Amino acid sequence: MYIKIKRGWELPEHLATPEHVFFNRRKFLTTSAAIGAMTILSACEEKQGAQAGSSAAPAEQDPSASLYPFKRNETYKLDRDITDEQWATTYNNYYEFSSGKRLVEEAQALPIRPWVLTIDGMIDKPMQIGIDDLMKKMPLEERLYRHRCVETWSMAVPWSGFALKELVKLVEPKAEAKYLRLETFMNPEVAGEQKIPFYPWPYVEGLTIEEAKNDLAFMVTGMYGKPAPKQNGAPLRIALPWKYGFKSGKALVRITFTDERPVNFWQALQANEYGFWANVNPEVPHPRWSQATERVLGSDEPRPTLLYNGYAEFVAPLYANLQNEKLFM
Ligand code: MTE
Repeated sequence: MYIKIKRGWELPEHLATPEHVFFNRRKFLTTSAAIGAMTILSACEEKQGAQAGSSAAPAEQDPSASLYPFKRNETYKLDRDITDEQWATTYNNYYEFSSGKRLVEEAQALPIRPWVLTIDGMIDKPMQIGIDDLMKKMPLEERLYRHRCVETWSMAVPWSGFALKELVKLVEPKAEAKYLRLETFMNPEVAGEQKIPFYPWPYVEGLTIEEAKNDLAFMVTGMYGKPAPKQNGAPLRIALPWKYGFKSGKALVRITFTDERPVNFWQALQANEYGFWANVNPEVPHPRWSQATERVLGSDEPRPTLLYNGYAEFVAPLYANLQNEKLFM
């Protein structure tokens, strides 16, 4: 996420781009007396030129490993090759562990068993359920989805998991439930960046109940035919392929059905740049950059970005009566 927060002082803009400058700056910030002055940014474009990390962490042998691979649901087709697994699993956004992209090592500190998901709020069947028990209740499948980060990089991934609408059905929402609030774990002992009070931890995301019931909304437990690695959000994340990637919260511990629209992490940080809906639209630029094209991880060739990331046939009707909303930020 390309976020810049000015606090007291800042380095000149021309230093705010290449990754090595960023990392040097972080070192400077932590080793100098300039604590409290913070410029947080990442630089996705220039990282396109970087090589994929040489080693994706091996998928942890968790109790669900023997369930994989799941049968592919052929409804969801790609218009491009599947992204090389090395890229998809070593080039990440996960601010709990780092504001850079190379965080595989840091993310391994997260314990993912036992992992209990709390589902509460305006539902008839509230529950606390272990991830392995939840997987037993859900129809597991694999889907090929595109993923478009708001920073303009993209990838195409075989996710494994289950349709969110199945989980919605399981907990029987009350009529007044309008939104789902999805909350990531909070554990500053293992996720060092959660010690930085400036961020509105924990990471929260949200969607409407209609969006949650849409066929495309997918809960992810695995990728590339095995359990997802920790850096990609194990043991449970969401994939909403028509929205910018920041909507897909990782390592979820709680889903609350509510009548209040959740304020998400990035919105809480920078509401003039990141909103609730965040649907992909090449015609609506981010306040600081164009969204017209994207770079697929592993390729330098820009390609046009598509409305709703190419998923309009599935989701456009959701927004037919919401023209007064800021649907694309
Ligand atoms: N979830 C949490 N908890 N923390 C994060 O920093 N980053 C988001 C999203 N989910 C993020 C998160 C962003 S900006 C993107 S683009 C995707 O995760 C990246 O997913 P990936 O690392 O699997 O590619």
